[in-house]
Amino acid sequence: MAADPQASADTGTRAILRRARLPLVAAPMLLVSGPELVIAACRAGVFGSFPTANCREEGRLDEWLRRIGEECAETPDAAPCVPNLIVHRSNPRLRQDLEVIIRHRPAAVITSVGSPAAVAPALRDAGIQVWCDVATVHHAQRAADAGADGLILLTAGAGGQTGNANPFAFVRAVRERFDGIIALSGGQADGAALLAAQALGCDLGYMGTRFIATREARAEARYKDLIVESELDDIHLTNALSGLETNLLRRSLLAQGLDPAEFGIGPKRFSMTALEGREGGAPKRWRDIWSAGHSVSGVRDVPSVAELVDRLAREYGEAAEAMLALASGVRR
Ligand SMILES: Cc1cc2nc3c(=O)[nH]c(=O)nc-3n(C[C@H](O)[C@H](O)[C@H](O)COP(=O)(O)O)c2cc1C
Repeated sequence: MAADPQASADTGTRAILRRARLPLVAAPMLLVSGPELVIAACRAGVFGSFPTANCREEGRLDEWLRRIGEECAETPDAAPCVPNLIVHRSNPRLRQDLEVIIRHRPAAVITSVGSPAAVAPALRDAGIQVWCDVATVHHAQRAADAGADGLILLTAGAGGQTGNANPFAFVRAVRERFDGIIALSGGQADGAALLAAQALGCDLGYMGTRFIATREARAEARYKDLIVESELDDIHLTNALSGLETNLLRRSLLAQGLDPAEFGIGPKRFSMTALEGREGGAPKRWRDIWSAGHSVSGVRDVPSVAELVDRLAREYGEAAEAMLALASGVRR
């Protein structure tokens, strides 16, 4: 993954970026991202995404992709939808979801939880860019070697299954070696943070938590409210649920009668069986125990996606003007 001095050129792989109004992906989220959120994001001018795992019934993925395509076609400058494929061997639907995606030919696919090597050739042959999420420089290298067009850098404090690298160090380390598209995942909830991601050398920001608290997200009202009410200090990191480090809303554990102190970082999976037999059944991760990232501190309301994207664009412009003013005072 050699760095190209022309990395900022807006050609080739990067042409896709011109199709968005703002350099941002409304990130894919299990249970939370449905067609309403994706369509609203794309029509507002940012990349929309959803994990194909959200389409549980036979034929649903095809139906969602068709609906997204049709409704986005009503807005001529809609940004692309970039579906998310979980490429881990535990995904039993990987092959069939891949076939459906290839039939719909989105501009790009985001792969997560594993190496893209098994799916990248088929996607690229179909003219679909492959963007892979990675949490270490080693995995970034492997994804680049497998032909990734883009890398999504999961950093400390990201919602969902997180990374633990410092974003400054991680972006700089990967940008030195990789001249494709880079998106920064973790910690962004406003236009200033989005601009900062670009200042570091990223092409795109990647926001999940901020989009949970929107009207179109498929999250229950209490989940959205809890995001608005929570601060960064209320985010609890554990690998107890799946073995992978995941950021949770502390108060969603408490609401299920669970003690956050029992959900730490350890070598073993925490077994939810201890809770089975409880009246009402055991709480389910993602459905009853909710995830969010450090970016919760920047979420104070539940707007529509269109209102949110307008606000992000305004903040981004203001931050850019402030940076230009600062830059003009630097003696070079
Ligand atoms: C509730 C929730 C579910 C998520 N599900 C997925 C998923 O299915 N696939 C995926 O690639 N990332 C998933 N993520 C991670 C997001 O795509 C993104 O990396 C993360 O939300 C960025 O950090 P932020 O939440 O602080 O903005 C999820 C995140 C959250 C909060």
